[in-house]
Amino acid sequence: MILLDGQAVAAAIRCELSQQVHRLQVSSGKVPHLAVILIGHDPASHTYVDAKLKACRAVGFKTTVIRHATIQEADLLHQMVQLNNDPMIDGLIVQLPLPPHISVPRVIHHMKPEKDVDGFHALNYGRMARSLPAHIPATPLGILILLARYQLETSGKHCVIVGRSRTVGAPLSILMSRDGYPGNATVTLCHSHTQHLSALTRQADILVAAVGRPRLITADMVKKGAVVIDVGITREPDQTRKLGYRLQGDVDFARVAPRCSYITPVPGGVGPMTIAALLLNTLRAAQNQVYVTDQGI
Ligand code: GUN
Repeated sequence: MILLDGQAVAAAIRCELSQQVHRLQVSSGKVPHLAVILIGHDPASHTYVDAKLKACRAVGFKTTVIRHATIQEADLLHQMVQLNNDPMIDGLIVQLPLPPHISVPRVIHHMKPEKDVDGFHALNYGRMARSLPAHIPATPLGILILLARYQLETSGKHCVIVGRSRTVGAPLSILMSRDGYPGNATVTLCHSHTQHLSALTRQADILVAAVGRPRLITADMVKKGAVVIDVGITREPDQTRKLGYRLQGDVDFARVAPRCSYITPVPGGVGPMTIAALLLNTLRAAQNQVYVTDQGI
């Protein structure tokens, strides 16, 4: 069993990105600039946003963070329009989840597609599905990069994804079935209505668990030799830890790992890759490379 070391790969990507940021600055004077809007007091969201901002600064990006204890939807949309129109801002993310009085689809719709470095806007989603240049959601992009860095074969493999979220499962199912590498997989997308889940997961050459249910994937659900990607990062109370919690994946790592050819740890697997992918999208937005390569449409 080999660990897919997202921490190490993400560190290597950050190193490459720092050099590209320097080159962009020397050639054009431009420094990539990410703006983040965070609403409410969800502790996990605050941790994620802090990690994103720290990574941005580490590679030399500028950052703007706007924190609201609460905000009306109309005011949020107005603020987004201002950031959309601000030429100094290259990328914009609104951290999810949002309070219930704010419509997530409406917020996503108000994002300027060129600045939508989360890749959630319908235009980016559609372009991704058509294999056109697009911002690709960070977690699926991070998973693809991790598979590619370890040169894992995906063509003709059965990729079973558990969870159809907007951020991970749904876009990953499109990406893994696209023509190219990593891709050309036969994809099964499982969700809360799926019957006989373990019969499907046992067929997986590549198994991705992205539902946020700790230890959902047990050893009997995994084929021997499978590649297992664990996207879950649930906080479980643990008084022996400094923070009072530990992070638990969707995979029962201790029992599943011995069956795998490759597996991601939690933490240190998909999490750091998600942030690295967000940095990549932001750099591409700053380079204005996503929408200038529109030949053919
Ligand atoms: N909340 C959980 N994952 C994400 C993400 O990738 N982007 C945003 N904006 N919010 C999230």
